[in-house]
Amino acid sequence: MSVALVTGASSGIGAATAIAFAEAGWEVMAAGRNEGRLEEVADVSERIAIWSGELTESEECDELVADTIDEFGLIDCLVNSAGILLRGDAITTSDDEWRDTLTINLDVPFYLSRAAMPHLQKSRGSIVNVSSNWGLQAGANAVAYCASKGALIMLTKAMALDCAADGVRINAVCPGGVDTPMLAAGAELADKEPEEFLAEIAEFSPNGRIATPEEIAGLALFLASDAASHITGTAIPIDGGLSA
Ligand SMILES: NC(=O)c1ccc[n+]([C@@H]2O[C@H](COP(=O)([O-])OP(=O)(O)OC[C@H]3O[C@@H](n4cnc5c(N)ncnc54)[C@H](O)[C@@H]3O)[C@@H](O)[C@H]2O)c1
Repeated sequence: MSVALVTGASSGIGAATAIAFAEAGWEVMAAGRNEGRLEEVADVSERIAIWSGELTESEECDELVADTIDEFGLIDCLVNSAGILLRGDAITTSDDEWRDTLTINLDVPFYLSRAAMPHLQKSRGSIVNVSSNWGLQAGANAVAYCASKGALIMLTKAMALDCAADGVRINAVCPGGVDTPMLAAGAELADKEPEEFLAEIAEFSPNGRIATPEEIAGLALFLASDAASHITGTAIPIDGGLSA
């Protein structure tokens, strides 16, 4: 039996990842904030258990890992997909916006990784952090988001070095635009019609389209699998060629 703990699993990439792992035969703890939506995700497969709650403090992260161990007895993969996008430059970003963004996009993956590490050492498992192409190259008017996603990539690499000898692999995926509620909310923040906004993002991409959440989930599943047994400390763009 292989067990994955997936955050942000009530929507978007996290939901698609929980389902992809379950369909590949993994047992999954799907963690999210919206219980109703989590139940819809769990309806897809009997292999999916749900954990509902806000993740901000290390205590909540410790509790989520402990509950996953109570449910399944082991963890083979942690997928950190929960995240938020707040727009603003260095002048307009408030203390609260900066703190909230860094908390969910960086602190929570760190707290969960730390709590899960003893279990990952036992299983010789892996972590997949959902960063962003904006963690590799900056985007306009998103200083806190870009800083958090860049730092998440460096956390990935630093932890990968420390954990390689124990057989624990840690990688980051760096999507460009993905068709999820976060991108829809981006249209609102940019004060644009959703269709117009999505078309603009698709146009930026060399392959002319936005990714599906399932495509990101597929990369996470590959990175968690034995087929990726020699891959650690990487930040892999999945962006239709944008970063090329
Ligand atoms: N959609 C994109 O274009 C895109 C591009 C690059 C990277 N990403 C990254 O992908 C990840 C998933 O985003 P998505 O696109 O699926 O959007 P999404 O909004 O559907 O998913 C984010 C999830 O994180 C959860 N979340 C946020 N704050 C939380 C908290 N404090 N505690 C618990 N859960 C919390 C939300 O409830 C939501 O379910 C994010 O880290 C995001 O930065 C998305």
